[in-house]
Amino acid sequence: MGLRVGVCGAGSFARSFIPLFQAHPLVEDVALAEVLPERRAEQAARFGIRETYPDLDALCASDVDVIALFTQRHLHGPQALQALRAGKHVYSAVPMGVTIDELRRIVSAVEETGLTYMMGETSYYYPSTVLCRDRFRRGAFGAFVYGEGEYYHDMSHGFYEAYQHSGGAEWKRVAGFPPMLYPSHSVSMILSVTGARMTQVSCLGYEDQLDDGVFGAGNNLWDNPYSNETALFRTSDGGMCRINEFRRVGVSGGRSVRLSVYGTEAAYEEQADGEVWVTRDKRQEDLRPLLKCAPSGHPAREDLPEDLRADFHSGLAPVHPRDRLPDAFRHLPNGHHGSHQFLVDDFCRSCSEGVLAPNHVWAAARYCAPGIVAHESALQEGRLLEVPHLGEPPASARYLEV
Ligand SMILES: NC(=O)c1ccc[n+]([C@@H]2O[C@H](COP(=O)([O-])OP(=O)(O)OC[C@H]3O[C@@H](n4cnc5c(N)ncnc54)[C@H](O)[C@@H]3O)[C@@H](O)[C@H]2O)c1
Repeated sequence: MGLRVGVCGAGSFARSFIPLFQAHPLVEDVALAEVLPERRAEQAARFGIRETYPDLDALCASDVDVIALFTQRHLHGPQALQALRAGKHVYSAVPMGVTIDELRRIVSAVEETGLTYMMGETSYYYPSTVLCRDRFRRGAFGAFVYGEGEYYHDMSHGFYEAYQHSGGAEWKRVAGFPPMLYPSHSVSMILSVTGARMTQVSCLGYEDQLDDGVFGAGNNLWDNPYSNETALFRTSDGGMCRINEFRRVGVSGGRSVRLSVYGTEAAYEEQADGEVWVTRDKRQEDLRPLLKCAPSGHPAREDLPEDLRADFHSGLAPVHPRDRLPDAFRHLPNGHHGSHQFLVDDFCRSCSEGVLAPNHVWAAARYCAPGIVAHESALQEGRLLEVPHLGEPPASARYLEV
């Protein structure tokens, strides 16, 4: 018997993933839960889904094996916990949660139930991260010294429209989400390469100056004044990291999520117009041919704001391990620099085989906790704070071969 997958949330992002779950050889059927009746009916018809539910509660009461959360970013923590407590394996779009307490509870639920939890961290399969992870494992960097991870996404680059589609009349209440509560794209790029964790942080916030009613006390659910936050971390391997989460910034071009890693022997540096490998003995390698993603080969989704279309449509790069993907994915859409197909495959195989996928619950906590504490530090004008360690997989854990 294959997996019965229940997708929760029929918004923009879910549309990129439903066809992949439907096509995966380990999946028997896909059901859909969505609170907005029109959206539910429209997307069920688009993808030929027969089994639909009005909300997560009903999906939890159904006989699906898996719940895949594609709901708004601040809802994932309690929803993942609810699904695990209902006995379901959980795939969650990022972030895992927005408080340390939410993360702790999810980790405990996985430890108690033995169910699979995986966060769908797209950055994990970005070509730059794949390349750096491989070279780090082979020792090419030497010892880790310093990393930079950044997610630059100006509100005017498609975010206003996305939040309006997502939040209806009250969209500004969520659009003012503290940037550091969405840290996993940038944090995971560094930590998935080195395997370390963040231990301490000092963070500063940029109080937004634009009078659009999004950021600022009283405007959003978090009374968050910051549109941009920058944090300096100590890492458990003795290194240092700088993470930028910017939502009001005049940059464009290249990837919006970027990585640089500096080791004692070599470095990977990424800019808007290219990527380069440099070494201590003064060699340079242009990495663009290895990291450039092919076009997705599918028409752009017209439902998306124009600025977001390229992200949702990108095929594989030469550096991607394409042979491990199921044949059934070969002609299907991919996105976020080739990551979507790897994430769905990782998750389905890890549920089926009872092994841990790379972005398992302890890794997800390692990627999200640093940002939660960083925001707290920003609210205290950069006070140095400890990042809690939320645990490691049990020694007996088996891992997915990727
Ligand atoms: N690169 C990435 O990893 C990436 C990119 C885009 C979006 N995302 C994440 O994907 C998630 C979804 O984004 P989106 O743009 O599709 O959002 P969206 O608002 O368009 O869709 C969310 C949907 O969930 C539904 N929903 C909320 N609560 C529900 C419940 N209890 N039961 C059933 N349905 C419920 C909403 O009605 C809505 O239709 C967000 O968390 C976002 O952060 C990640």
